[in-house]
Amino acid sequence: MLINLLRLLPPETAHQITISLLKSNFILKKKQIKIYKSLKQNILNINFNNPVGLAAGFDKNAEVIKQMLYFGFGFVEVGTVTPNKQRGNEKPRVFRLFEDKAIINHLGFNNLGSERILSNLKSFYEDKDIKEVVGVNIGKNNSTENDIDDYLYCFEKLGIYCDYITINISSPNTPGLRDLQLRGRIETLVKKIQKRQLEIKELIKKPIFIKISPDLNDEQLRDIALMSLANNVNGLIISNSTIRRPDTLTSGYKNEVGGLSGKPIFIDSTILLKKMYSLTNGQITLIGVGGISSGYECYEKIKAGASLVQLYTALVYQGPKIINKILKELNELIKIDGYKSISDAIGKSS
Ligand SMILES: Cc1cc2nc3c(=O)[nH]c(=O)nc-3n(C[C@H](O)[C@H](O)[C@H](O)COP(=O)(O)O)c2cc1C
Repeated sequence: MLINLLRLLPPETAHQITISLLKSNFILKKKQIKIYKSLKQNILNINFNNPVGLAAGFDKNAEVIKQMLYFGFGFVEVGTVTPNKQRGNEKPRVFRLFEDKAIINHLGFNNLGSERILSNLKSFYEDKDIKEVVGVNIGKNNSTENDIDDYLYCFEKLGIYCDYITINISSPNTPGLRDLQLRGRIETLVKKIQKRQLEIKELIKKPIFIKISPDLNDEQLRDIALMSLANNVNGLIISNSTIRRPDTLTSGYKNEVGGLSGKPIFIDSTILLKKMYSLTNGQITLIGVGGISSGYECYEKIKAGASLVQLYTALVYQGPKIINKILKELNELIKIDGYKSISDAIGKSS
């Protein structure tokens, strides 16, 4: 019922109200976590209760991590965080494409900045009652002079207060950001981060993921695969939202500027994931994101090569009940295929 009321409001207002309600614990009063043995995994030395995570962008400021974990997510990725606070682009900048079960956004990394988010992360960790996995997704300020320094700054500042770090070089709404995916530039960025990592004891073992765009061509994809293998990158997140507009879109908002997410990006982002799994010979941990709204779609991503998955847009359309529904479906799908554990299904699509 609440979700139907929120749908009547402009998307960003609805989001702000949702965050406020979550913060006040109005929506959720007790833990809803159901543990399935078959969905537990240890990946990169981190224990995940299940493979379904909340994608970056929902909890940009690390304000409702505990609440989202209580809904049943196996992990929550906060951010994108930039060194300094920034307002992002002019409103309106988020559009719901109801008919297409999709969203277009050109938010532009609106967030409260690394200092405030650090303090929110510290508060979360002081709360001893939940031990699930938290990732921090980092980016650069719009007005920065040196983009790589922004990543180094956030990595150093926030890396201690999370289980993994994501380097976001794929959001379509920050000018120049996606150029960091180009050969040479991405390698420089990775090498500098890894060098800094070796200098800081607490960060040495922290897994680093790189989040890439679904709009990369085959050559760019191969370059990233080779660079990741050559530099022992821990993981890749595939993918962010797309600037493409599939012909199938019917909503009146389909030509708004920004990144398209949700159902229409499921197939392309899954094909990309599968290509990357094959290019990296299954040697690099992959997180599959894009258009997931059911256990079946999670399972498709996992069979395409993902060890973990994330979602955002389907949460807007279906509400938090989607998580337990997905976990139940996933558990059943594994059994049908005769697997004992979700990890047995990774990369098993024909
Ligand atoms: C409103 C909105 C804001 C987002 N903000 C971010 C962000 O700050 N950083 C990021 O890496 N991805 C961001 N994303 C992309 C999602 O994390 C995800 O990669 C993408 O939406 C595809 O997943 P989905 O189809 O399940 O939504 C955002 C997505 C939406 C819909």
